[in-house]
Amino acid sequence: MMTETLPKNEGKKYHILTYGCQMNERDSEIIAGLLEQSGLTEASSLEEADLVVLNTCSVRHSAENKVYGKLGQIKRLKAEHPQMKVALGGCMAQLADVQAKLKKLGVDLVFGTHNIHELPDLLDRGNTDKLPYIKVWDQPGEVVEELPDRRVDGISAFVTIMYGCNNYCSYCIVPYTRGRERSRTPEHILNEVRGLVDRGVREITLLGQNVNSYGRGLVEKIDFADLLAMVNEVDGLWRLRFTTSHPRDMTPKLIDAIGSLDRVCEHVHAPIQAGSNKILKLMNRGYTREYYFELAQLMRERIPGVAITSDLIVGFPGEEEEDFEQTLDAVKKVGFDASFTFMYSPRTGTKACCMPNEVSQEIKHQRLLRLNEVQYELALMTNRRFENQVEEVLVEGRSKTNPEKLTGRTRTNRIVIFSGPEAITGKLVPVRITEARTFNLLGDLVEGKGPKEAN
Ligand code: SAH
Ligand code: SF4
Ligand code: F3S
Repeated sequence: MMTETLPKNEGKKYHILTYGCQMNERDSEIIAGLLEQSGLTEASSLEEADLVVLNTCSVRHSAENKVYGKLGQIKRLKAEHPQMKVALGGCMAQLADVQAKLKKLGVDLVFGTHNIHELPDLLDRGNTDKLPYIKVWDQPGEVVEELPDRRVDGISAFVTIMYGCNNYCSYCIVPYTRGRERSRTPEHILNEVRGLVDRGVREITLLGQNVNSYGRGLVEKIDFADLLAMVNEVDGLWRLRFTTSHPRDMTPKLIDAIGSLDRVCEHVHAPIQAGSNKILKLMNRGYTREYYFELAQLMRERIPGVAITSDLIVGFPGEEEEDFEQTLDAVKKVGFDASFTFMYSPRTGTKACCMPNEVSQEIKHQRLLRLNEVQYELALMTNRRFENQVEEVLVEGRSKTNPEKLTGRTRTNRIVIFSGPEAITGKLVPVRITEARTFNLLGDLVEGKGPKEAN
Protein backbone atom coordinates (compact mmCIF):
# COMPACT_ATOMS: atom_id res chain seq x y z
CA MET A 1 0.00 0.00 0.00
CA MET A 2 1.61 3.27 -1.08
CA THR A 3 0.40 6.77 -0.58
CA GLU A 4 1.98 9.79 -2.18
CA THR A 5 4.78 11.40 -0.26
CA LEU A 6 3.46 14.59 1.25
CA PRO A 7 5.79 17.45 0.27
CA LYS A 8 4.91 19.43 3.41
CA ASN A 9 6.84 16.92 5.51
CA GLU A 10 9.95 17.08 3.36
CA GLY A 11 13.04 17.75 5.38
CA LYS A 12 11.18 17.11 8.65
CA LYS A 13 12.65 14.71 11.13
CA TYR A 14 11.07 12.43 13.72
CA HIS A 15 12.31 10.80 16.91
CA ILE A 16 10.40 8.00 18.66
CA LEU A 17 10.75 7.18 22.36
CA THR A 18 9.38 3.73 23.21
CA TYR A 19 8.33 2.61 26.70
CA GLY A 20 6.80 -0.65 27.94
CA CYS A 21 6.55 -4.09 26.41
CA GLN A 22 7.50 -5.72 23.11
CA MET A 23 4.05 -4.86 21.75
CA ASN A 24 5.03 -1.23 21.95
CA GLU A 25 8.41 -1.92 20.38
CA ARG A 26 6.64 -3.53 17.46
CA ASP A 27 4.09 -0.68 17.25
CA SER A 28 6.95 1.81 17.13
CA GLU A 29 8.27 0.08 14.02
CA ILE A 30 4.87 0.71 12.42
CA ILE A 31 4.81 4.32 13.64
CA ALA A 32 8.26 4.83 12.04
CA GLY A 33 7.01 3.24 8.82
CA LEU A 34 3.95 5.49 8.68
CA LEU A 35 6.01 8.62 9.31
CA GLU A 36 8.56 7.70 6.65
CA GLN A 37 5.79 7.03 4.17
CA SER A 38 4.59 10.57 4.89
CA GLY A 39 7.98 11.98 4.00
CA LEU A 40 9.68 12.36 7.38
CA THR A 41 13.13 10.92 8.11
CA GLU A 42 14.64 9.76 11.38
CA ALA A 43 16.44 12.40 13.44
CA SER A 44 19.84 11.53 14.84
CA SER A 45 18.83 12.86 18.25
CA LEU A 46 15.86 14.13 20.23
CA GLU A 47 17.15 17.72 19.96
CA GLU A 48 17.17 17.55 16.18
CA ALA A 49 13.59 16.32 15.85
CA ASP A 50 10.70 18.31 14.39
CA LEU A 51 8.33 15.65 15.68
CA VAL A 52 8.85 13.68 18.90
CA VAL A 53 6.58 10.65 19.38
CA LEU A 54 6.29 9.05 22.81
CA ASN A 55 4.91 5.51 22.64
CA THR A 56 3.90 5.06 26.25
CA CYS A 57 3.14 2.38 28.86
CA SER A 58 0.80 2.57 31.84
CA VAL A 59 1.26 -0.85 33.40
CA ARG A 60 2.65 0.65 36.61
CA HIS A 61 2.82 4.11 38.15
CA SER A 62 6.59 4.13 37.59
CA ALA A 63 6.12 3.56 33.85
CA GLU A 64 3.87 6.62 33.62
CA ASN A 65 6.23 8.68 35.75
CA LYS A 66 9.09 8.07 33.34
CA VAL A 67 6.97 9.58 30.58
CA TYR A 68 5.95 12.60 32.67
CA GLY A 69 9.62 13.20 33.47
CA LYS A 70 10.53 13.03 29.81
CA LEU A 71 7.69 15.40 28.87
CA GLY A 72 9.12 17.94 31.30
CA GLN A 73 12.50 17.72 29.60
CA ILE A 74 10.92 17.97 26.14
CA LYS A 75 8.86 21.01 27.16
CA ARG A 76 12.10 22.82 28.05
CA LEU A 77 13.60 21.78 24.71
CA LYS A 78 10.52 23.05 22.91
CA ALA A 79 11.16 26.52 24.31
CA GLU A 80 14.45 26.54 22.38
CA HIS A 81 13.03 24.76 19.29
CA PRO A 82 9.59 26.26 18.70
CA GLN A 83 9.03 24.19 15.55
CA MET A 84 9.11 20.99 17.59
CA LYS A 85 5.82 19.05 17.83
CA VAL A 86 5.11 16.37 20.41
CA ALA A 87 2.76 13.42 19.85
CA LEU A 88 1.84 10.98 22.59
CA GLY A 89 0.55 7.50 21.77
CA GLY A 90 0.48 4.06 23.36
CA CYS A 91 -1.30 2.85 26.47
CA MET A 92 -1.26 6.09 28.47
CA ALA A 93 -3.05 7.84 25.63
CA GLN A 94 -6.09 5.61 26.12
CA LEU A 95 -6.70 6.75 29.70
CA ALA A 96 -8.95 9.71 30.52
CA ASP A 97 -7.07 10.59 33.72
CA VAL A 98 -3.83 10.81 31.75
CA GLN A 99 -5.39 12.84 28.94
CA ALA A 100 -6.55 15.39 31.50
CA LYS A 101 -3.00 15.82 32.79
CA LEU A 102 -1.44 16.36 29.37
CA LYS A 103 -2.88 19.84 28.85
CA LYS A 104 -0.04 21.70 30.53
CA LEU A 105 2.75 19.44 29.37
CA GLY A 106 3.39 20.75 25.87
CA VAL A 107 1.82 17.82 24.03
CA ASP A 108 0.40 18.74 20.61
CA LEU A 109 -1.30 15.50 19.66
CA VAL A 110 -2.63 12.41 21.43
CA PHE A 111 -3.39 9.26 19.44
CA GLY A 112 -4.40 5.86 20.80
CA THR A 113 -3.40 2.23 20.49
CA HIS A 114 -6.34 1.48 18.15
CA ASN A 115 -5.76 4.26 15.64
CA ILE A 116 -2.00 4.26 15.05
CA HIS A 117 -2.74 4.08 11.33
CA GLU A 118 -4.38 7.52 11.50
CA LEU A 119 -1.20 9.19 12.75
CA PRO A 120 -0.08 10.75 9.43
CA ASP A 121 -3.48 12.44 8.96
CA LEU A 122 -3.60 13.58 12.57
CA LEU A 123 -0.26 15.36 12.33
CA ASP A 124 -1.89 18.17 10.36
CA ARG A 125 -4.59 18.76 12.90
CA GLY A 126 -2.46 19.62 15.88
CA ASN A 127 -2.48 23.27 14.85
CA THR A 128 -5.51 24.40 16.78
CA ASP A 129 -5.41 26.79 19.76
CA LYS A 130 -6.66 24.13 22.10
CA LEU A 131 -3.83 21.70 22.58
CA PRO A 132 -3.40 18.84 22.73
CA TYR A 133 -5.52 17.66 19.85
CA ILE A 134 -6.87 14.32 21.09
CA LYS A 135 -8.01 11.58 18.71
CA VAL A 136 -8.26 8.30 20.55
CA TRP A 137 -10.61 5.46 19.72
CA ASP A 138 -12.28 3.94 22.80
CA GLN A 139 -12.75 0.60 21.08
CA PRO A 140 -10.63 -1.21 18.55
CA GLY A 141 -11.90 -1.44 14.99
CA GLU A 142 -11.10 -4.32 12.67
CA VAL A 143 -7.46 -5.42 12.70
CA VAL A 144 -5.67 -3.15 10.22
CA GLU A 145 -3.22 -5.09 8.06
CA GLU A 146 -0.52 -4.15 5.56
CA LEU A 147 0.67 -1.05 7.36
CA PRO A 148 4.15 0.09 6.41
CA ASP A 149 6.86 -0.49 8.96
CA ARG A 150 10.49 0.26 9.50
CA ARG A 151 12.40 -2.62 11.02
CA VAL A 152 16.01 -2.40 12.02
CA ASP A 153 17.89 -5.06 10.05
CA GLY A 154 18.82 -7.86 12.37
CA ILE A 155 18.67 -11.54 13.03
CA SER A 156 15.58 -11.37 15.30
CA ALA A 157 12.14 -9.85 14.85
CA PHE A 158 8.81 -9.59 16.65
CA VAL A 159 5.56 -10.58 14.98
CA THR A 160 2.33 -9.57 16.72
CA ILE A 161 -0.20 -12.39 16.38
CA MET A 162 -3.01 -10.89 18.43
CA TYR A 163 -4.03 -7.63 20.01
CA GLY A 164 -5.74 -6.83 23.29
CA CYS A 165 -6.71 -9.01 26.22
CA ASN A 166 -9.96 -10.35 27.65
CA ASN A 167 -8.62 -11.67 30.93
CA TYR A 168 -9.20 -8.75 33.24
CA CYS A 169 -6.70 -9.75 35.87
CA SER A 170 -7.91 -7.44 38.63
CA TYR A 171 -4.64 -5.44 38.90
CA CYS A 172 -4.08 -4.92 35.18
CA ILE A 173 -4.74 -1.91 32.97
CA VAL A 174 -3.94 -3.66 29.69
CA PRO A 175 -7.51 -4.78 28.80
CA TYR A 176 -8.54 -1.11 29.11
CA THR A 177 -5.68 0.29 27.05
CA ARG A 178 -5.52 -2.43 24.39
CA GLY A 179 -9.16 -3.44 24.16
CA ARG A 180 -10.72 -6.83 23.62
CA GLU A 181 -8.72 -9.69 22.22
CA ARG A 182 -8.41 -9.95 18.40
CA SER A 183 -6.30 -12.50 16.54
CA ARG A 184 -4.66 -11.90 13.17
CA THR A 185 -5.33 -14.52 10.54
CA PRO A 186 -2.68 -17.22 10.05
CA GLU A 187 -2.25 -16.06 6.42
CA HIS A 188 -1.25 -12.55 7.49
CA ILE A 189 1.08 -13.91 10.15
CA LEU A 190 2.72 -16.43 7.80
CA ASN A 191 3.19 -13.83 5.08
CA GLU A 192 4.87 -11.53 7.55
CA VAL A 193 7.13 -14.31 8.85
CA ARG A 194 8.09 -15.40 5.31
CA GLY A 195 8.86 -11.80 4.34
CA LEU A 196 11.11 -11.41 7.38
CA VAL A 197 12.93 -14.69 6.74
CA ASP A 198 13.47 -13.63 3.11
CA ARG A 199 15.21 -10.54 4.49
CA GLY A 200 17.57 -12.60 6.62
CA VAL A 201 15.69 -12.82 9.94
CA ARG A 202 16.33 -16.19 11.59
CA GLU A 203 14.61 -15.82 14.95
CA ILE A 204 10.97 -14.81 15.33
CA THR A 205 9.13 -14.03 18.56
CA LEU A 206 5.34 -14.25 18.30
CA LEU A 207 3.69 -11.63 20.50
CA GLY A 208 0.39 -11.43 22.32
CA GLN A 209 -0.80 -10.64 25.86
CA ASN A 210 -1.95 -14.25 26.02
CA VAL A 211 -0.74 -16.17 22.98
CA ASN A 212 -2.31 -19.36 24.34
CA SER A 213 -5.77 -18.12 23.46
CA TYR A 214 -4.76 -17.34 19.86
CA GLY A 215 -7.44 -18.09 17.28
CA ARG A 216 -10.56 -17.37 19.32
CA GLY A 217 -12.99 -15.41 17.19
CA LEU A 218 -11.37 -16.27 13.86
CA VAL A 219 -13.57 -17.81 11.18
CA GLU A 220 -11.26 -20.77 10.72
CA LYS A 221 -10.74 -23.22 13.53
CA ILE A 222 -7.17 -22.79 14.66
CA ASP A 223 -5.38 -22.63 18.00
CA PHE A 224 -1.92 -21.55 19.08
CA ALA A 225 -0.44 -25.04 18.77
CA ASP A 226 -1.64 -25.17 15.14
CA LEU A 227 -0.13 -21.76 14.46
CA LEU A 228 3.22 -22.81 15.95
CA ALA A 229 3.22 -25.87 13.70
CA MET A 230 2.56 -23.70 10.63
CA VAL A 231 5.26 -21.14 11.42
CA ASN A 232 7.67 -23.95 12.28
CA GLU A 233 7.50 -25.02 8.61
CA VAL A 234 8.81 -21.73 7.22
CA ASP A 235 12.04 -22.56 5.42
CA GLY A 236 15.08 -20.67 6.64
CA LEU A 237 13.76 -19.99 10.15
CA TRP A 238 16.06 -21.20 12.93
CA ARG A 239 14.31 -20.26 16.14
CA LEU A 240 10.71 -19.63 17.06
CA ARG A 241 9.79 -17.96 20.36
CA PHE A 242 6.54 -16.66 21.80
CA THR A 243 5.32 -14.58 24.73
CA THR A 244 3.22 -14.39 26.98
CA SER A 245 1.53 -17.66 27.98
CA HIS A 246 -1.35 -17.56 30.45
CA PRO A 247 -1.01 -20.69 32.63
CA ARG A 248 -4.77 -21.28 32.55
CA ASP A 249 -4.79 -21.69 28.77
CA MET A 250 -1.71 -23.90 28.48
CA THR A 251 -3.12 -27.14 27.02
CA PRO A 252 -1.37 -30.53 26.80
CA LYS A 253 -1.62 -30.17 23.01
CA LEU A 254 0.31 -26.90 23.16
CA ILE A 255 2.91 -28.36 25.52
CA ASP A 256 3.45 -31.25 23.13
CA ALA A 257 3.78 -28.86 20.19
CA ILE A 258 6.46 -26.87 22.03
CA GLY A 259 8.24 -30.10 22.94
CA SER A 260 8.17 -31.60 19.46
CA LEU A 261 8.51 -28.76 16.94
CA ASP A 262 12.19 -28.44 16.14
CA ARG A 263 12.42 -24.66 15.74
CA VAL A 264 10.32 -23.82 18.79
CA CYS A 265 12.68 -22.91 21.62
CA GLU A 266 12.45 -24.62 25.00
CA HIS A 267 11.34 -21.56 26.92
CA VAL A 268 7.89 -20.78 28.29
CA HIS A 269 7.15 -17.45 29.96
CA ALA A 270 4.05 -18.37 31.97
CA PRO A 271 3.68 -15.87 34.82
CA ILE A 272 2.30 -17.33 38.05
CA GLN A 273 2.02 -13.78 39.54
CA ALA A 274 1.48 -15.05 43.13
CA GLY A 275 1.74 -18.27 45.09
CA SER A 276 -1.22 -17.97 47.46
CA ASN A 277 -4.61 -19.25 46.34
CA LYS A 278 -6.32 -16.43 48.19
CA ILE A 279 -4.34 -13.82 46.24
CA LEU A 280 -4.63 -15.68 42.91
CA LYS A 281 -8.39 -15.60 43.36
CA LEU A 282 -8.42 -11.88 44.18
CA MET A 283 -6.23 -11.35 41.12
CA ASN A 284 -8.80 -13.19 38.97
CA ARG A 285 -6.11 -15.42 37.49
CA GLY A 286 -8.34 -18.48 37.08
CA TYR A 287 -5.97 -21.13 38.52
CA THR A 288 -4.61 -22.36 41.83
CA ARG A 289 -1.05 -22.96 42.95
CA GLU A 290 -1.64 -26.72 42.77
CA TYR A 291 -2.78 -26.39 39.15
CA TYR A 292 0.39 -24.45 38.34
CA PHE A 293 2.65 -27.07 39.97
CA GLU A 294 1.05 -29.80 37.86
CA LEU A 295 1.41 -27.66 34.76
CA ALA A 296 5.08 -27.01 35.46
CA GLN A 297 5.67 -30.71 35.97
CA LEU A 298 3.96 -31.58 32.71
CA MET A 299 6.05 -29.00 30.86
CA ARG A 300 9.26 -30.42 32.36
CA GLU A 301 8.25 -33.95 31.35
CA ARG A 302 7.24 -33.14 27.81
CA ILE A 303 9.60 -30.31 26.86
CA PRO A 304 13.08 -31.62 27.65
CA GLY A 305 15.31 -28.93 29.14
CA VAL A 306 12.52 -26.34 29.26
CA ALA A 307 13.17 -22.99 30.95
CA ILE A 308 10.11 -21.72 32.78
CA THR A 309 10.05 -18.01 33.62
CA SER A 310 7.52 -15.85 35.43
CA ASP A 311 6.30 -12.42 36.40
CA LEU A 312 5.56 -11.95 40.10
CA ILE A 313 3.72 -9.22 41.96
CA VAL A 314 4.27 -8.51 45.67
CA GLY A 315 2.03 -6.43 47.91
CA PHE A 316 -1.30 -7.03 46.17
CA PRO A 317 -4.13 -5.73 48.43
CA GLY A 318 -4.79 -8.24 51.21
CA GLU A 319 -1.43 -9.99 50.83
CA GLU A 320 -0.39 -11.04 54.33
CA GLU A 321 2.98 -12.38 55.40
CA GLU A 322 1.75 -15.98 55.00
CA ASP A 323 0.48 -15.28 51.48
CA PHE A 324 3.80 -13.81 50.55
CA GLU A 325 5.59 -16.85 51.99
CA GLN A 326 3.44 -18.97 49.71
CA THR A 327 4.82 -16.99 46.79
CA LEU A 328 8.39 -17.65 47.96
CA ASP A 329 7.50 -21.31 48.35
CA ALA A 330 5.92 -21.53 44.88
CA VAL A 331 8.94 -19.90 43.27
CA LYS A 332 11.20 -22.51 44.89
CA LYS A 333 8.87 -25.42 44.11
CA VAL A 334 8.58 -24.56 40.43
CA GLY A 335 12.24 -23.53 40.28
CA PHE A 336 11.76 -20.63 37.88
CA ASP A 337 14.79 -20.05 35.70
CA ALA A 338 14.16 -16.30 35.98
CA SER A 339 11.37 -13.90 36.92
CA PHE A 340 10.44 -10.28 36.52
CA THR A 341 9.36 -9.06 39.95
CA PHE A 342 7.15 -6.05 40.63
CA MET A 343 5.61 -4.16 43.54
CA TYR A 344 1.86 -3.92 43.09
CA SER A 345 0.91 -0.54 41.68
CA PRO A 346 -2.76 0.53 41.86
CA ARG A 347 -4.18 1.47 38.45
CA THR A 348 -7.22 3.73 38.25
CA GLY A 349 -10.20 1.93 36.75
CA THR A 350 -9.08 -1.61 37.61
CA LYS A 351 -10.92 -3.80 40.11
CA ALA A 352 -7.99 -4.15 42.49
CA CYS A 353 -7.65 -0.40 42.76
CA CYS A 354 -10.52 -0.20 45.20
CA MET A 355 -9.80 -3.41 47.11
CA PRO A 356 -9.29 -3.09 50.87
CA ASN A 357 -6.21 -3.91 52.93
CA GLU A 358 -3.59 -2.12 50.94
CA VAL A 359 -0.04 -3.15 51.70
CA SER A 360 2.31 -0.36 52.74
CA GLN A 361 5.10 0.77 50.44
CA GLU A 362 7.64 -0.24 53.08
CA ILE A 363 6.38 -3.83 53.27
CA LYS A 364 6.08 -4.08 49.48
CA HIS A 365 9.67 -2.99 49.20
CA GLN A 366 10.91 -5.48 51.79
CA ARG A 367 8.99 -8.30 50.13
CA LEU A 368 10.42 -7.42 46.75
CA LEU A 369 13.95 -7.64 48.15
CA ARG A 370 13.22 -11.00 49.82
CA LEU A 371 11.65 -12.36 46.66
CA ASN A 372 14.55 -11.20 44.52
CA GLU A 373 16.99 -12.86 46.85
CA VAL A 374 15.22 -16.20 46.41
CA GLN A 375 14.80 -15.82 42.65
CA TYR A 376 18.39 -14.71 42.06
CA GLU A 377 19.74 -17.66 44.01
CA LEU A 378 17.54 -20.02 41.97
CA ALA A 379 18.65 -18.41 38.71
CA LEU A 380 22.30 -18.88 39.66
CA MET A 381 21.64 -22.49 40.63
CA THR A 382 19.83 -23.32 37.38
CA ASN A 383 22.51 -21.50 35.37
CA ARG A 384 25.22 -23.61 37.03
CA ARG A 385 23.78 -26.67 35.29
CA PHE A 386 25.21 -25.26 32.07
CA GLU A 387 28.81 -25.03 33.26
CA ASN A 388 31.13 -27.10 31.06
CA GLN A 389 28.28 -27.74 28.60
CA VAL A 390 28.40 -26.67 24.98
CA GLU A 391 25.39 -24.50 24.11
CA GLU A 392 24.12 -23.36 20.73
CA VAL A 393 24.23 -19.55 20.77
CA LEU A 394 22.64 -17.14 18.30
CA VAL A 395 25.12 -14.25 18.20
CA GLU A 396 23.55 -10.80 18.58
CA GLY A 397 26.75 -8.70 18.34
CA ARG A 398 29.03 -6.77 20.69
CA SER A 399 28.04 -6.85 24.34
CA LYS A 400 26.90 -3.39 25.51
CA THR A 401 28.20 -3.91 29.02
CA ASN A 402 31.45 -5.50 27.91
CA PRO A 403 32.32 -4.26 24.39
CA GLU A 404 35.41 -6.49 24.18
CA LYS A 405 33.05 -9.46 24.10
CA LEU A 406 30.16 -10.77 22.05
CA THR A 407 26.68 -11.50 23.32
CA GLY A 408 24.06 -14.01 22.23
CA ARG A 409 21.35 -16.28 23.57
CA THR A 410 20.83 -19.98 24.10
CA ARG A 411 17.59 -21.63 23.04
CA THR A 412 16.40 -21.32 26.65
CA ASN A 413 16.91 -17.54 26.37
CA ARG A 414 20.01 -17.32 28.56
CA ILE A 415 22.40 -14.53 27.68
CA VAL A 416 25.93 -15.75 26.94
CA ILE A 417 28.94 -13.41 26.96
CA PHE A 418 32.00 -14.75 25.14
CA SER A 419 35.03 -13.79 23.04
CA GLY A 420 35.00 -14.05 19.28
CA PRO A 421 35.19 -12.09 16.03
CA GLU A 422 32.35 -9.62 15.37
CA ALA A 423 31.95 -11.28 11.96
CA ILE A 424 30.04 -14.18 13.54
CA THR A 425 27.17 -11.83 14.44
CA GLY A 426 23.92 -13.35 13.21
CA LYS A 427 25.29 -16.88 13.25
CA LEU A 428 24.60 -19.93 15.37
CA VAL A 429 27.79 -21.00 17.11
CA PRO A 430 28.75 -23.57 19.75
CA VAL A 431 29.95 -21.98 23.00
CA ARG A 432 31.39 -23.85 25.97
CA ILE A 433 30.04 -22.36 29.20
CA THR A 434 32.84 -21.60 31.62
CA GLU A 435 31.03 -19.70 34.37
CA ALA A 436 27.42 -19.30 35.44
CA ARG A 437 26.27 -15.97 36.83
CA THR A 438 22.84 -14.81 38.02
CA PHE A 439 21.83 -12.97 34.87
CA ASN A 440 24.08 -14.52 32.25
CA LEU A 441 26.63 -17.16 31.36
CA LEU A 442 30.27 -16.66 30.41
CA GLY A 443 31.80 -18.91 27.80
CA ASP A 444 34.38 -19.64 25.09
CA LEU A 445 33.67 -20.13 21.43
CA VAL A 446 34.25 -23.74 20.44
CA GLU A 447 36.67 -23.40 17.51
CA GLY A 448 36.73 -25.74 14.57
CA LYS A 449 32.99 -26.37 14.27
CA GLY A 450 32.02 -23.89 11.56
CA PRO A 451 29.13 -21.57 12.44
CA LYS A 452 25.79 -21.85 10.71
CA GLU A 453 25.51 -19.01 8.19
CA ALA A 454 22.50 -16.81 7.72
CA ASN A 455 21.85 -16.88 3.99
N1 SAH B 1 -0.01 -10.23 29.30
C1 SAH B 1 1.15 -10.47 29.99
C2 SAH B 1 1.90 -9.24 30.46
C3 SAH B 1 1.16 -8.17 31.12
S1 SAH B 1 2.04 -6.83 31.77
C4 SAH B 1 0.79 -11.43 31.08
O1 SAH B 1 -0.34 -11.64 31.36
O2 SAH B 1 1.69 -11.99 31.64
C5 SAH B 1 3.50 -7.57 32.43
C6 SAH B 1 3.49 -7.83 33.88
O3 SAH B 1 3.33 -6.64 34.62
C7 SAH B 1 2.39 -8.71 34.38
O4 SAH B 1 2.63 -10.05 34.14
C8 SAH B 1 2.34 -8.38 35.84
O5 SAH B 1 3.23 -9.18 36.59
C9 SAH B 1 2.84 -6.95 35.90
N2 SAH B 1 1.77 -6.02 36.23
C10 SAH B 1 0.64 -5.78 35.55
N3 SAH B 1 -0.12 -4.88 36.19
C11 SAH B 1 0.56 -4.53 37.33
C12 SAH B 1 0.29 -3.66 38.42
N4 SAH B 1 -0.84 -2.95 38.48
N5 SAH B 1 1.21 -3.57 39.41
C13 SAH B 1 2.35 -4.29 39.35
N6 SAH B 1 2.64 -5.13 38.36
C14 SAH B 1 1.77 -5.26 37.35
FE1 SF4 C 1 -3.04 -8.08 32.04
FE2 SF4 C 1 -3.88 -10.45 32.80
FE3 SF4 C 1 -4.26 -9.66 30.29
FE4 SF4 C 1 -1.81 -10.23 31.12
S1 SF4 C 1 -3.51 -11.68 30.98
S2 SF4 C 1 -2.43 -8.46 29.93
S3 SF4 C 1 -1.83 -9.57 33.25
S4 SF4 C 1 -5.19 -8.77 32.11
FE1 F3S D 1 2.65 -1.27 29.00
FE2 F3S D 1 0.67 -1.24 27.32
FE3 F3S D 1 2.58 -3.05 27.09
S1 F3S D 1 0.52 -0.87 29.48
S2 F3S D 1 3.20 -3.37 29.20
S3 F3S D 1 2.83 -0.89 26.84
S4 F3S D 1 0.42 -3.34 26.64
